[in-house]
Amino acid sequence: MAIETLLKEKRIFRPSKKLVENSNVMQWMKEHKIKTYDELLKVASKKRSWFWGELAKELEWFSPWKKVLDWKPPYAKWFIGGKFNIVHNALDRHANSFRKNKLAYIWEGEPGEVRKITYGELYREVNKFANALKELGVKKGDRVAIYLPMIPELPISMLACAKIGAIHSVVFSGYSAKALQHRINDASAKVLITVDGFYRHGKVIKLKDSADEALKDAPSVKKVVVVKRAGNNIKMKRDRDLWWHDIIEKQKPYCKTVQLEANTPLYILYTSGTTGTPKGVIHDHGGYAVGTYATLKWVFDLKEEDVWWCAADIGWVTGHSYIVYAPLMLGVTSVMYEGAPTYPDPDRVWQIIEKYGVTVFYTAPTAVRMFMRFGRSWVKKHDLSTLRLLGSVGEPINPSAWIWYYNVIGNKKCPIMDTYWQTETGMFVITPLPITPLKPGSATKPFPSIEADVYDENGKPLTNKGGDLVLTTPYPAMLKTLYKNPSRYEKTYWSKFKNMYLTGDVAHKDKDGYIWVQGREDDVLNVAGHRIGTAEVESALVSHPAVVEAAVVGKPDKIRGTVIKAFVILKQGTKPSSTLVKDLKYHVGEEIGHIAKPAEIVFVDDLPKTRSGKIMRRVIEAIELGKPTGDISTLRNPETVNALIKLKNNRK
Ligand code: PRX
Repeated sequence: MAIETLLKEKRIFRPSKKLVENSNVMQWMKEHKIKTYDELLKVASKKRSWFWGELAKELEWFSPWKKVLDWKPPYAKWFIGGKFNIVHNALDRHANSFRKNKLAYIWEGEPGEVRKITYGELYREVNKFANALKELGVKKGDRVAIYLPMIPELPISMLACAKIGAIHSVVFSGYSAKALQHRINDASAKVLITVDGFYRHGKVIKLKDSADEALKDAPSVKKVVVVKRAGNNIKMKRDRDLWWHDIIEKQKPYCKTVQLEANTPLYILYTSGTTGTPKGVIHDHGGYAVGTYATLKWVFDLKEEDVWWCAADIGWVTGHSYIVYAPLMLGVTSVMYEGAPTYPDPDRVWQIIEKYGVTVFYTAPTAVRMFMRFGRSWVKKHDLSTLRLLGSVGEPINPSAWIWYYNVIGNKKCPIMDTYWQTETGMFVITPLPITPLKPGSATKPFPSIEADVYDENGKPLTNKGGDLVLTTPYPAMLKTLYKNPSRYEKTYWSKFKNMYLTGDVAHKDKDGYIWVQGREDDVLNVAGHRIGTAEVESALVSHPAVVEAAVVGKPDKIRGTVIKAFVILKQGTKPSSTLVKDLKYHVGEEIGHIAKPAEIVFVDDLPKTRSGKIMRRVIEAIELGKPTGDISTLRNPETVNALIKLKNNRK
């Protein structure tokens, strides 16, 4: 694979001595007589089971594991035989300790209300809701769908499910009714938890209406629990819909946490793949808990007194791992914000950091680029001196955004932890630690014990050349499998290179072993840090009555990284029009969600196809980006190439 490597970033940023000396990781190294970062990486790789076993001992187990790791590729079992529950570690143990009256969450609604929730209060709320779920007939192993925005009832619902051994499936509140329906049906969820409405950009988003639409064909759902948030008018269906506040009213604030074997599923989270059907990624209680706990503790160096703000949505894995489970296991205080980061003004985020004294802030490059566009005057209105570390996730951070983030937000004193990971990995896998020298734009090196490499098409390791990024060793939070689809799990991740996990990303490794992720290699787009399968958008477009065929490609965008551009073939007799463009965008929004709406739609007569009829997306993409089309001899209709080039030139 000849993939160009364009980044030529040379700067190195070394962490301050004070940060290194006081860091959690350095503390651990001292306790284990390890002197340097390189030595840590070596020891952890060599003694993988010992390394994770030591970290796992920092959590509480009902009974110890018999073996740390059983690796029968491509299936890994961690902490086998250990009796565990992530909620015991995230909540119960704090509620019975000095942290009882410590804040777990400082929640701010978009209109400005604040809810401060202590560990003790969170514990009681989770127990009450867990009892309510039991009363609704939810049992160990049952799936519960959660379609909630960023309100405290979202983590409460997740924790309540986990407490009783039920499996939660959170569906991002920006997804459409159709997307929700698909996920409910795939998992045969018994209960759905949703909300009347919530605030975004000053408007009320009526989520219950979407839930009702989804439930028109979701027969597994027997009960719907509705949180009252925005107070908008909704319809409650008799015998099916129940208000959250009604069902918890009479519940006891104590509920036993079930003891589970460590490998018991904790949740399903759907993510886009290369086909139109999303993949149900499964994570478990034990390994996932140890992996997320250890990575947050070491990478973001969280201490008792820190105020942590992971500004993601809990509907994505970032929020599952690093707003809900890991920070609670660490017993830190987290900020949680409901609304848009620029509402009512572009300094909302800086205002929140100043107000609550946030010390560690974690966001996505797309947000950094947006803040850059608004300019530093919005930042300078606020005192951000409490910040001591910053983080980035979701896509490669371009060095110019990295430097702006470092200079303007971090005031040149906060190292940036560029964490590379995925829904599937559950935890950071390639990431700096506070002791790692940083190169802007590189996620640096794998987390201790993990090994990553870059392979050419034949599985030969490459240096300084782009190739497939693979993870060659197991780690505790890695996905167990895909829900009801082990063959897709084996084929997607483990078949290209035997027993090696294929990330689907292209990267290159420099001479120092630093990894530079360049982007997706498969047919998945990364739009503003969200993963969207081209096939999903194409099938949404084709489901519109006016469309025969569609191809979707990514187009570089200054703020969002990539935006979606669609090429559409209309049914005979249908006239292209701007109304139809609007209608198609709306339709994709209805089918998937607003995040998947194409930024641009063009109508074409034909699309380049192979002899077997497969649309050659790569050729379309090359034309769109003004790159050479490469070998087109396998095309059935090579004339389409010139037609597309002409169309592009005409639009200029
Ligand atoms: O392409 C990589 C990109 O996001 C993908 C994973 O997306 P998702 O499963 O939705 O999880 C996002 C949050 C963990 C990856 O395959 N990605 C994520 N983090 C980075 C990144 N690309 C480069 N640098 C990162 N730090």
